[in-house]
Amino acid sequence: MVSVAVLGAAGGIGQPLSLLMKLNTKVTKLNLYDIVNVPGVAADISHVATNAEVKSYLGPKELADAVSNIDLAIIPAGVPRKPGMTRDDLFKINAGIVKSLVEAIAENSPRAIIAIISNPVNSTVPIAAEVLKNAGVYDPKRLFGVTTLDVVRASRFVRDIRSDIDSTTLRVPVVGGHSGNTIVPLLSMASTSLDLNDKAVEDLTNRIQFGGDEVVKAKDGAGSATLSMAYAGARFADSVIRALSGESVVEPTFIDLTADAEGAKQIRELGAADLAFFAVPVELGKNGVERIVPLPAGGITEFEREAIKVAAGALATNIATGVNFVKSA
Ligand code: NAI
Repeated sequence: MVSVAVLGAAGGIGQPLSLLMKLNTKVTKLNLYDIVNVPGVAADISHVATNAEVKSYLGPKELADAVSNIDLAIIPAGVPRKPGMTRDDLFKINAGIVKSLVEAIAENSPRAIIAIISNPVNSTVPIAAEVLKNAGVYDPKRLFGVTTLDVVRASRFVRDIRSDIDSTTLRVPVVGGHSGNTIVPLLSMASTSLDLNDKAVEDLTNRIQFGGDEVVKAKDGAGSATLSMAYAGARFADSVIRALSGESVVEPTFIDLTADAEGAKQIRELGAADLAFFAVPVELGKNGVERIVPLPAGGITEFEREAIKVAAGALATNIATGVNFVKSA
């Protein structure tokens, strides 16, 4: 019995993500919200023979109803990148969109778990946190930036150079943030030993960090990753939903480190000293973040430690940009 709202449901990510949520048998109510085209998307998806009730909500007047009595809000609303753009270039438009959507959630479902896909995640998640604080309903355990696509890419890209590895079961922890060099795959801690030389580690890390550019370039002006992102978003949502029903599930995701201050200590020692937000492997539970999963002692390589330092510098700016956007509004 889980009620889910997808905000931005008529978009490139929103449509396939909504379809995948309809296929999730634990979802009983699926509210689809957008400012355009959503009645058609909802009518179409509602014919899929699973038990979830699909409803359409169009435009700001229907937003409050779309986010009332929900357990989980997934937000892929906003503009995507075009060639030559960084995720930070999207800030101007997407910051305001995420702010208004989270304000509505804070008012109508203050206990909902919120999963943010809209870029730049490194800034939109801090925006959401500030909005929830202002509304007096902030629980850092219930707010997530979806970085699953980086994890998915890591598993798949390893297979491109190690065809003996099964990317469906391989797990590579990815920490830091979700853009360029803030994305730090910890290849040394993959669930299967990868046995890669230094050059291969460097190349693979770079490909995971900038994998999104491959899609932006190939789509040639028509947007960024949508189908692989919908898969990744649905995988993250399924993990949250399974955790809500009592399972213990681990997913790397971008969180407010105060959600588990004790668990965050180790992450801070790795070079994320004063950062408020960081992507870490998180054990999910009934209340969202159960705990930050400790990284194996001594496991991290010098290369990874350096990459975390670089990520931390960029992340500090991204986080401040998000916080200041709400504070100066
Ligand atoms: P899109 O343009 O195809 O779809 C966005 C949808 O959001 C549209 O249907 C639009 O009408 C809707 N929208 C715009 N303003 C809205 C508002 N105020 N309320 C509700 N809906 C609104 O874009 P696409 O490709 O689906 O990407 C969406 C976002 O996801 C972008 O910001 C993109 O950068 C981000 N993204 C994030 C990834 C991640 O790993 N976290 C990966 C890929 C994309």
